[in-house]
Amino acid sequence: MTNIRAVVYGVGAMNSVITRYLLDKDVEIVGAISRSPDKVGKDLGEVTGLDRRLGVSISDDPHEVFTRTSPDIAVVAITSYLVDAAEHFRIALSHGVNVITLSEEALYPWNTAPELTAELDALAKEHGVTITGGGFQDSFWVNAVAQLMGTAHRIDSVTGTSSWNVDEYGPELAELQQVGATIEEFDAWCREAVRPPTFGRIALDALVAGAGLTPKQILTRTEPELAHETLHCAALGIDVPPGKCIGFTDIDEIRTEEGPVFVFRMSGRLYGPDDSDVNEWTIHGEPDLVMSNGTPPTMATTCTQLVNRIPDVLDADPGFVTVVDLPRLRYRHGRLHDHLSRWSSDRYIVREEL
Ligand SMILES: NC(=O)c1ccc[n+]([C@@H]2O[C@H](COP(=O)([O-])OP(=O)(O)OC[C@H]3O[C@@H](n4cnc5c(N)ncnc54)[C@H](OP(=O)(O)O)[C@@H]3O)[C@@H](O)[C@H]2O)c1
Repeated sequence: MTNIRAVVYGVGAMNSVITRYLLDKDVEIVGAISRSPDKVGKDLGEVTGLDRRLGVSISDDPHEVFTRTSPDIAVVAITSYLVDAAEHFRIALSHGVNVITLSEEALYPWNTAPELTAELDALAKEHGVTITGGGFQDSFWVNAVAQLMGTAHRIDSVTGTSSWNVDEYGPELAELQQVGATIEEFDAWCREAVRPPTFGRIALDALVAGAGLTPKQILTRTEPELAHETLHCAALGIDVPPGKCIGFTDIDEIRTEEGPVFVFRMSGRLYGPDDSDVNEWTIHGEPDLVMSNGTPPTMATTCTQLVNRIPDVLDADPGFVTVVDLPRLRYRHGRLHDHLSRWSSDRYIVREEL
């Protein structure tokens, strides 16, 4: 029986969860790539916390892994921006391996990294494979919102609000979010920092492109979030008194030639006792519409969406194909391989006849 054959590229928090989901869907994991000496040479099952060995030794040599295993797809969860991930993508694509990645910029990189995206698009086409960025944003920030937009007669504005708790991550991110800074320190950082495009802006790029609209003006501003009561930051091991920063909110706005305005407020801050994650989208127009996901299980749905996307990536035409252009995300019951619809390469058996 033929199964999809995958290489897990980057053995960190996300790909550890994804490894189990892949195995549950009968994906054959034929290789694993990571970097740290703690992981290289060990069995993937052991490193990802499964209670069994998988017979897959983690390697730090992607060329050797791709040459030896000829996988159908590489599941890449390493880094967020295209400029940092590009070399990993180049290696996979040039070995004729499809790529699905959690790199946030890969969700819709045509505006923020057009040259690199065009290069990867050409490389994928040359080798007859597809590269797609997915994860949490796929439905919750792009395609579910796009479906909601599809229920409107006229749209004046689309506004998203999302939040995450700084203390669920490590000290590096807490420092980056300016936790503990005074307002003066925050203002100085805002003036001096050179920051890459926000993940919110990338999601808005995808929404605007998916609606066939034309960006006219793109604005990003950042507002401090200040403590109203003393909050403890476990990541930094400090108490943040009232008046000091507990994080910030990025507000991205895209105005379009055609009229609709898109706004995304994304807040990364230390949560108080009454805070929880939100993911809410409001459309003003005719009629007004609202979509709220309550508290979405972010890590799980990052990984489920990536895995459920794999058949679409394998079925897609070659090139850099974003989730804007893929079919709607589907639940994949049972073997992932059974969800392939028109995969016609000689290397694979497409469908067994009834
Ligand atoms: N799109 C989404 O919805 C979504 C959601 C969550 C996370 N993400 C993104 O996905 C990425 C991974 O997240 P994570 O939480 O899994 O991070 P993580 O735990 O830090 O894992 C990253 C892994 O990448 C590996 N790596 C880094 N450089 C490498 C290299 N040159 N060669 C081989 N492996 C390398 C690291 O290997 P070693 O440990 O061996 O050094 C590490 O295991 C991040 O960029 C994150 O922002 C996206």
